[in-house]
Amino acid sequence: MENKNKRETFSTGLAVFFATLGSAVGLGNIWKFPYLLGSNGGGAFLLAYLLCVALVGIPIMACEFYIGRKSRKNAVGAFKELKAAKGFKTIGFMGVGSSVLIAFFYSCVAGWVYSYVFRALKGDFVGVTAATAKTKFMTTVVGPFPPLVWQFIILAVVSVILIAGVKNGIERITKTLMPVLFILIIICDIRALTLPGASQGLKFLFHVDFTQLTGPVILAALGLAFFKLSLGMGTMITYGSYFTQDNNMISTSIKVALADSLISILAGIAIFPAVFSFGMQPSQGAGLLFMTIPLVFSQIPFGSVLLVAFFLLTAIAATTAIMSVIQVPVAYLEEEKGIGKKKAVLLTTGIIMLVGILATLSADSSSVLGNIHIIGKRGFFDSFDYLSSNILLPIGGLITAIYIGYFVKKDDFKLELSNGGTLNNYAVLNVVHVFIKYVSPILLVIVFLNSIGVIPSLLKLLHL
Ligand code: TRP
Repeated sequence: MENKNKRETFSTGLAVFFATLGSAVGLGNIWKFPYLLGSNGGGAFLLAYLLCVALVGIPIMACEFYIGRKSRKNAVGAFKELKAAKGFKTIGFMGVGSSVLIAFFYSCVAGWVYSYVFRALKGDFVGVTAATAKTKFMTTVVGPFPPLVWQFIILAVVSVILIAGVKNGIERITKTLMPVLFILIIICDIRALTLPGASQGLKFLFHVDFTQLTGPVILAALGLAFFKLSLGMGTMITYGSYFTQDNNMISTSIKVALADSLISILAGIAIFPAVFSFGMQPSQGAGLLFMTIPLVFSQIPFGSVLLVAFFLLTAIAATTAIMSVIQVPVAYLEEEKGIGKKKAVLLTTGIIMLVGILATLSADSSSVLGNIHIIGKRGFFDSFDYLSSNILLPIGGLITAIYIGYFVKKDDFKLELSNGGTLNNYAVLNVVHVFIKYVSPILLVIVFLNSIGVIPSLLKLLHL
């Protein structure tokens, strides 16, 4: 395909892989995955999650890459460029909505991570015990002022990076630091596995209790798959628009999904043995990571240095991931509304800071706004998360699958994803197409209907 807009592209396949991974790997892996798994029945949730990644996540990622590389445009402009029916542009608009919703609570949690770097540096966690780990987390979260200041700091850092346009530099940093994060998590794993009673944590993580597979648990797993792989709101469309013509986008999707899942599982192996060994509850919610990691690193040589390094790298991963979230509204304001970059960034982060206050002040039930319920029993923080991850991202994914499955000619799809036939992967593409046309959309609809209680019996069928 001719490159109409003379867009820059990533230089190599490896650059594509790491850039995409830089968006995918973030708090979703290190903070959200363990906490949701802990609150949703352990191994059963892991199984549901992996099935969602394989049956829905990978095919939808390939669709987003297709739309991006074929159009070489941002999420809103892409559907226009591909002459899709007008309605499909809603994905772009929904993407802008989901991205700010995500940023409201993501910036709050990223702020906690920044504050943990600072506290670890000060030696705040020396001699920490299970009981004090909890109090320390509470002082970070309940605030009200410190968490707001940290949220402001992270948004300021992101604004400066986006305005200065040093994104490429940042990507280079990610490429070197991602392996370091990986090694640190492995060190964490080794330590966690040598704790007394570690096997109980592994059993919790890997043993599947099928009675736990309820509708809401599966919906949470589905939402997490979208969240972790940065799907359903156009982020991967934008990344695809920078891919080289010779990138094998199916294998990139699979590799990113595998690497992302591996990092999550390794984070789980670091956390759950510690949870059981120190007599904590796996279902304690959003604080799980923050309460266990200081314990994992206590009492080992260089523990305090490793603790600083762990939270520092998590902070960097969170920063690069949130940049890819904020980039969606920023690109929309710049490219579709003609607003200058600086203004677009400041407007977006300004709104995120203002509304994000609601998330930060409702993160725990003892927070200032902790008792206000928005969706069901959820406060602001959880409602922003639920609405974006569990509702909007899967709907974005559904619309994407319907577009590719029913509105794009199968031959066009195969031509683009085989790089004009050079990859000789038609057999694989036929299978992927069946997934996109039937498996992923049907599963998405079933999970929705089931979770709102319409067809619980259908889910039983799926268990077989
Ligand atoms: N995937 C990132 C994480 O796991 C978060 C993220 C970045 C995201 N870009 C996204 C989530 C786009 C949904 C959509 O932390």
